[in-house]
Amino acid sequence: MKLKDRIVLITGGASGIGRIMGEIALKKGASALVIWDINQENIDATIGELKAFGKVAGYRVDVSNYDTVAESYAQVKSEVGDVDILINCAGIITSNKTFDLCSAEEMDRTIKVNTLAPMYVARQVLPDMIARNSGHICNIASAGGMLPNPKMSIYSASKWAAVGWSDSVRIELKEMKSQVRVTTICPYFITTGMFDGVKSKVFPLLKPQEVAERIIRAIEGNKKMLMLMKWIPQPHHFIRLLQVLPMNVFDWLMSDVLGIYHAMDNFTGRKK
Ligand SMILES: NC(=O)c1ccc[n+]([C@@H]2O[C@H](COP(=O)([O-])OP(=O)(O)OC[C@H]3O[C@@H](n4cnc5c(N)ncnc54)[C@H](O)[C@@H]3O)[C@@H](O)[C@H]2O)c1
Repeated sequence: MKLKDRIVLITGGASGIGRIMGEIALKKGASALVIWDINQENIDATIGELKAFGKVAGYRVDVSNYDTVAESYAQVKSEVGDVDILINCAGIITSNKTFDLCSAEEMDRTIKVNTLAPMYVARQVLPDMIARNSGHICNIASAGGMLPNPKMSIYSASKWAAVGWSDSVRIELKEMKSQVRVTTICPYFITTGMFDGVKSKVFPLLKPQEVAERIIRAIEGNKKMLMLMKWIPQPHHFIRLLQVLPMNVFDWLMSDVLGIYHAMDNFTGRKK
């Protein structure tokens, strides 16, 4: 779906790739950008920066709370209008601990923000889109949602679930013969700060601007699934192909050859 004259809602839109996608949306002529984020300071700063490019509305919303999401969606409908494009981008990583050391709080919070929140928001927006037979939902998952990855097992689980849910909804809509589209995005590590400290032996870390631009192009081109990794044109086909290998060979490739299984060893995450 093209962005011109559309109302675009971006969760996690006050930082990282969400913020950049908001800027691109306005520059492409979106009629309004709606930012939902938990960080009020970043919302204010983002509105300050982006208002020169078009209409921006920011709401402090904890997307992991279903009731808050429902109330905020009603508010957006009455104050801004019907959402044409939803980009579920809010996400968290809590640590690089091995699973035996992770707390229940980390498990709950990660699954709530990365897995349940995109469902909560889509559950509000989708019935209206289906009724209008128009709309686009883009879910930002992760390459960690297609590959196992040590020291981020809960994050990986949350994104695998997000990929399975997102692509299933796409198929439901297709079977309904609806014009509403779903795009699932699985980027490799990006230098936004969220994964500070991560080292990648072979594949370069991705730049936020290029990732944001490719996601917007994927929405405009109604792409179903986009995995983003430098040098490999269709990484999700490549990964699926590699998964026919015996598991020990696959693990050796990911660990010793590509170093992906050790990327989290020096993770620090964004400093507050
Ligand atoms: N950075 C990477 O290497 C990378 C790689 C693959 C996928 N991703 C995914 O891309 C998305 C964006 O990541 P980013 O790198 O731009 O990160 P970021 O930390 O810069 O942005 C995430 C945003 O989500 C917001 N957020 C967190 N919890 C929230 C909540 N409960 N309610 C509302 N907003 C909340 C944060 O305040 C922040 O503004 C995430 O879903 C992330 O998992 C990131």
